[in-house]
Amino acid sequence: MSVCAVVSPSLALVKYWGKIPGAVNLPATSSLAVTIGAVRSSTTIEAGDEDRVTIDGELQDMDRFLSVLNAVRAKSSGPVPVHVESTNSFPTAAGLASSSSGLAALALGLDLFYETGLERSELSAIARQGSGSAARAVYGGFTEWLAGSESASQVAPADYWPEVRVLIVIVRSGKKPVSSRAGMENTRLTSPFYPAWTETSDDLFRRARAALERRDIEGLGVVMRQSYLRMFSTMFTSEPPLIYWEPESLAVIRLCEELRAGGTAVWETMDAGPQVKLITLASHVPQILSALEKAVPGSRIIQSEVGSDPVVEHV
Ligand code: PMV
Repeated sequence: MSVCAVVSPSLALVKYWGKIPGAVNLPATSSLAVTIGAVRSSTTIEAGDEDRVTIDGELQDMDRFLSVLNAVRAKSSGPVPVHVESTNSFPTAAGLASSSSGLAALALGLDLFYETGLERSELSAIARQGSGSAARAVYGGFTEWLAGSESASQVAPADYWPEVRVLIVIVRSGKKPVSSRAGMENTRLTSPFYPAWTETSDDLFRRARAALERRDIEGLGVVMRQSYLRMFSTMFTSEPPLIYWEPESLAVIRLCEELRAGGTAVWETMDAGPQVKLITLASHVPQILSALEKAVPGSRIIQSEVGSDPVVEHV
């Protein structure tokens, strides 16, 4: 018997960046996120002679996964070893939130495999131990994860705002040199701007939440932009400085400014990597795509609607 979990990554509109010291991935800031439906991690789990995890065929160090494995097994009556095979339909560890979908798929898949029947909020808390953003990815649609909370929750389903589109501009697809885990910890320890980031992020979160409630793309966009730029200003000012941006990232940021100046509702965000993700409405997509073609020729662009709930089943 094997189990398959298919999960889309969670893209933060308002960012989680920084952990409360002494706890396992408890966020210092509240985040609000959207599920990127067009891309996914597919994870199959079957009984094996010993625990093993592969991602896109590459054998992984078990450290990262043991907390999730052990947490689900602790609730199971037959905790046999497992072989876990995960594949991503998009570049791994390149700032595209592959850890959010991968770790969420592991927690959800193990729950069905071991027949533990855990609540979604418990699985969110378990997935969080592998990767903070995975706490949000156990749900589809729009999600929130409050500062200091063990688990995330869904704030609106995938069909809540059907016009929303996410465009992911992949400017470089290699693995990032510094993981988000290491980057956020060093930021907390060394950036003089870190306290300002955590103190002001709650206001951004509340404004973004209210804009989502009103389905107000402009209101959401303004806050989204503040959130990623404040997050990056803590990275730029850490020691050593952490600069994930590439020249093409800035070219896309500038392009969004130009498009907005011309009246197009498009707002960018970035995570721990050089890729730029744009939030817009379906009617603007053709215009944005042709502008991107000129500004960053050759970049791969993924177009997405808001993603639905994960699918977990026996195969
Ligand atoms: O969960 P992690 O360790 O992959 O960190 C995610 C950090 C960001 O992607 C930059 C922000 C977020 O809220 O997803």
